[in-house]
Amino acid sequence: MALFDTAPKSDPRFLYGRGKELKALSDYIKEKEWVILLGPRRIGKTSLAECAINKLGLNGIVLDSRTTNEFERGLVSALARPDSSIHIGANAKIPNTPIGVEVDYTRGSKPQGLETLLNRAKRTVVLLDEVQWFGNPRRVDMLLAHIYDYYHDKFTFIITGSAVGVARTIVDPGPRSAIYGRAIRKMEIAKWAPQISIDFIREGCREKGLPYTDELAFEVEKRLDGIPGWLTLFGFNYSQAKVSGNALKRTAGEAFKIIAGELENLEKHSIGSERQFAVLEALTKGQQRFNELREETGFNDVTLSNHLDTLERLGYIAKDKDRSYAISDPLLEAYIRERHGAPKP
Ligand SMILES: Nc1ncnc2c1ncn2[C@@H]1O[C@H](COP(=O)(O)OP(=O)(O)O)[C@@H](O)[C@H]1O
Ligand SMILES: [Mg+2]
Repeated sequence: MALFDTAPKSDPRFLYGRGKELKALSDYIKEKEWVILLGPRRIGKTSLAECAINKLGLNGIVLDSRTTNEFERGLVSALARPDSSIHIGANAKIPNTPIGVEVDYTRGSKPQGLETLLNRAKRTVVLLDEVQWFGNPRRVDMLLAHIYDYYHDKFTFIITGSAVGVARTIVDPGPRSAIYGRAIRKMEIAKWAPQISIDFIREGCREKGLPYTDELAFEVEKRLDGIPGWLTLFGFNYSQAKVSGNALKRTAGEAFKIIAGELENLEKHSIGSERQFAVLEALTKGQQRFNELREETGFNDVTLSNHLDTLERLGYIAKDKDRSYAISDPLLEAYIRERHGAPKP
């Protein structure tokens, strides 16, 4: 593993700049507290969770909603494996990107009930990754509540979500939600401060023997912000292309494809609509307050407020202390600008 590897980090030695978060999360797990990791895409939630599990040397199961749409069957399938759960060894070679359990429903000739499997299991940490995309959210809530109440001693859950507003019943359960009343810790994972991003680039370049200058790191930080996923992708491209300018260009190109795919996926889930792009477009001109945006977009108060709410819940925009809104990811901003041919500021 190396800093510029694009798979989520699972070895704590390559988890950069998250010392405090790693300590906090490991302590919670030790105390058997359930944790929700909140933060935008590519901020390093999966990496942090996997590193914490490995640091503690506990059995871990990773259920990624993007590869395992059904939570319950995914869990059954993972628990039914002969070795019961996967242990992500710090030095283990992990094929491809997500180390999530592949769900193979056909294997395991005698299907066992979840209850039996839960009873039989040893202490296990389950990473429920990107919870908002699991099917049947109510069922997910109920199952989580059940495990929380009856198997708390054995099972600790780490739940992550990028577009967490979509899974509000878990993050902010109301009285009608099955997991209402259970204590679940929330941890917000933030962007790296500029200096950390710069140090990360320097360290990664050193590790790969790539030419490094402060100017390069400043430029990359300015373009990609403190988003570990984009910085890692840049580092990866730089180590392939060896020319930093090309690497930045290639990173933006790949990022646009990734972002386009995610936006398409949202439309498939009927979340987000073309009209919300008008708000994003307006925000490419710089951060703005509600009134300014209303003028800029021509939406009425209710419509605008709904659009802002959705975009915020999806993690695409953020509101700062003086209540102005801004796009949270510079590459998303660049993408919107390019897609709509809006003039550069
Ligand atoms: N603290 C970190 N140190 C090094 N690389 C990181 C760190 N956090 C994230 N990354 C890298 O950034 C990318 C996105 O990380 P990931 O954990 O998948 O984020 P998320 O789960 O929030 O979408 C991956 O390539 C990962 O290797
Ligand atoms: Mg993730």
